[in-house]
Amino acid sequence: MKRLAIIGASGHGKVVADVAIAAGVGSISFYDDKAPDIKRLGQFKVVGNTGDAIQDSGLYDSVIVAIGNAQTREKIQKQLVKVSSAIVHPASVIGSDVHLGEGTVVMPGAIINAGVQIGSGAIINSGAVIEHDCCLGDFVHVCPNASIAGGVTIGSHSWIGIGASVIQSVLIGEYATVGAGAVVIHKVADNQTVIGIPAKPTNK
Ligand SMILES: CC(C)(COP(=O)(O)OP(=O)(O)OC[C@H]1O[C@@H](n2cnc3c(N)ncnc32)[C@H](O)[C@@H]1OP(=O)(O)O)[C@@H](O)C(=O)NCCC(=O)NCCS
Repeated sequence: MKRLAIIGASGHGKVVADVAIAAGVGSISFYDDKAPDIKRLGQFKVVGNTGDAIQDSGLYDSVIVAIGNAQTREKIQKQLVKVSSAIVHPASVIGSDVHLGEGTVVMPGAIINAGVQIGSGAIINSGAVIEHDCCLGDFVHVCPNASIAGGVTIGSHSWIGIGASVIQSVLIGEYATVGAGAVVIHKVADNQTVIGIPAKPTNK
């Protein structure tokens, strides 16, 4: 029976817990910096803060960070000695020759097709489609129902909004944001935010 600690007692944390249980994890404890003010998250106990999680890591088989903000996720994950291998919901589809880095979570209904490489600490959210031969960097988040066509590269820490689409072979830089529902047909630069159909940079 595998024991997992999850850092981040949020809505996203709840979903990560469900994915972990569906994937066969036996017991889960949460850690969150709002402890001890929050003591439970649904059926799970919140037993300490982030510092406690780092100290307690010997009690667990592995630890995963379930925090939406990519930089915070990275900062905490880098302090952990027992980062969980990728946690994959059994109702997702993972093709051949797919690499998923440690600390990555694949939510229900996601499809990751052949030859995809995904770095560490990434979130492939519910119903997202990552087509063949894409390369996604560390701490990328592909939101629910976003569709990434074949051969796309997404740099580290980038955020692909809910329902967005990216056509084949496009390059998206690091720390980029693709707005909800956008259709990306051209390169997106590092740190750039794009919205709309076709996606264009915002004025911010
Ligand atoms: C793109 C995004 C990050 C911009 O956020 P923001 O900087 O706070 O932008 P604002 O809400 O201030 O909006 C700025 C302008 O862009 C427009 N805009 C914002 N998001 C847009 C989108 N996705 N598509 C089209 N237009 C959008 C707004 O209508 C507004 O236009 P206006 O100035 O003419 O009124 C955000 O709107 C977004 O799409 N986030 C993705 C959310 C998501 O996918 N969540 C899923 C979590 S799992």
